[in-house]
Amino acid sequence: MIQRAKITVIGGGNVGASCALWAASKELGDIVVLDIPQAEGVVKGKMLDLAQCGPIERFDSRIVGTTDYKDIAGSDVVVITAGIPRKPGMSRDDLISTNVKIVRSVSENIKLHAPNAVVIVVSNPLDAMVYTAWKATGFPTHRIIGQAGCLDVARYRTFIAWEIGCSVEDVQALLLGGHGDDMVPLPRMTSVHGIPVSMLLSAEKINACVERAKVGGGEIVKLMGTSAYYAPASGVIQMVEAIVKDKKRILPCAGFCDKEYGVGGYFVGVPCVLGKAGVEKVLELSLDAAEKKLLDESASHVKDLVAVVKQLCPDLG
Ligand code: LAC
Repeated sequence: MIQRAKITVIGGGNVGASCALWAASKELGDIVVLDIPQAEGVVKGKMLDLAQCGPIERFDSRIVGTTDYKDIAGSDVVVITAGIPRKPGMSRDDLISTNVKIVRSVSENIKLHAPNAVVIVVSNPLDAMVYTAWKATGFPTHRIIGQAGCLDVARYRTFIAWEIGCSVEDVQALLLGGHGDDMVPLPRMTSVHGIPVSMLLSAEKINACVERAKVGGGEIVKLMGTSAYYAPASGVIQMVEAIVKDKKRILPCAGFCDKEYGVGGYFVGVPCVLGKAGVEKVLELSLDAAEKKLLDESASHVKDLVAVVKQLCPDLG
């Protein structure tokens, strides 16, 4: 029997609802958005509202808002957006003590109710929350992935395209490291329809795009008082599409790296091949000394955050 994919989003806030919107607009499968009991009316109402776009936007996805974990059974992909967002003046790391508890409890429920799902984590601080989801589900590492690189590289590609005055579609780029201000965009691996970006922009201009991308989340928090959601959700759905269509796309994601890049057993942003099994491969590129140094620094920040998770939840795996 041919079955539609089932995509679950945990957390029906701005990021979660936007994930549902992008997934429905691309008709990627049936969609369940789950929220806490206090938000029952809102999540059910939002998803009923979204379902009613179907005739206009031409999708037949079944869309359900719920507070009952039984409804996530049989999910192919579960996206964790649950947790509190940033307020102005906060770094992503400031969210850790609240969000670790939320992500842990959500993950335990995913383990119980959707044991075969590929899990994509979006909650912040991202790299530590991916680790938490891994430990709390006990899922194999290829089925636990963090969304950060797709968003961060989309920001970087946008700024490069604006600077050149070309289509955003023509800018291809890679970015490594954690989802913090020390993420590592790679100008050497940035091209514009195959043309190395260094042939089109000065080093200063490229560097300005790199720096703006690194603090791209904070720029939006400052403007609107809370975290971004359209582009984070778009990054998630790029990954979901690669998985449910088994596309084997190469996307920058927080994937598990043991020997890879010498990381030693943590999730950090690296180029991953995404298909129906989740992360089917981590691509290991040879980096120059400066790139390697930046990646090591970013990975060491990820390790510090994971150490905080271990302190907060000593019994976690
Ligand atoms: C951002 C948040 C979602 O980068 O981490 O906008």
